Amino acid sequence: MRMLQASMQMVMLASQPGIDPGLYLSRMAERHSRKDLDIPPQLYEYWLEALLQTVEEKDPEYTAEVREVWNLIMESGIQYMCSRYED
Ligand code: HEM
Repeated sequence: MRMLQASMQMVMLASQPGIDPGLYLSRMAERHSRKDLDIPPQLYEYWLEALLQTVEEKDPEYTAEVREVWNLIMESGIQYMCSRYED
């Protein structure tokens, strides 16, 4: 749960309008890249699905709209992480 929480916070910070996602995610992108943890881009969709499922389980006010907003917020962070996989 800790790691999920940390990830969501990092991606939320990184997805603020006008903010370079690298400011918050650069070190994590490097950690997940081929040369370290080696997390290929295809795995991110499973990770996102697990995250959305957890939100559904834990948020008593969960709705389809809540899911959609989380999806949107996570998208840019995931794109950034994937774009740095080969670095
Ligand atoms: C935007 C997406 C993601 C974020 C922000 C994120 C964030 C993090 C953070 C904060 C850590 C702990 C820091 C560290 O160990 O250096 C971590 C570790 C890790 N992450 Fe991610 N992560 C993401 C996606 C993924 C995905 C898609 C996978 C694999 C399916 C993954 C697998 C791992 C593994 C294996 C570790 C190391 C765990 C350990 O040391 O026990 N992560 N991630």
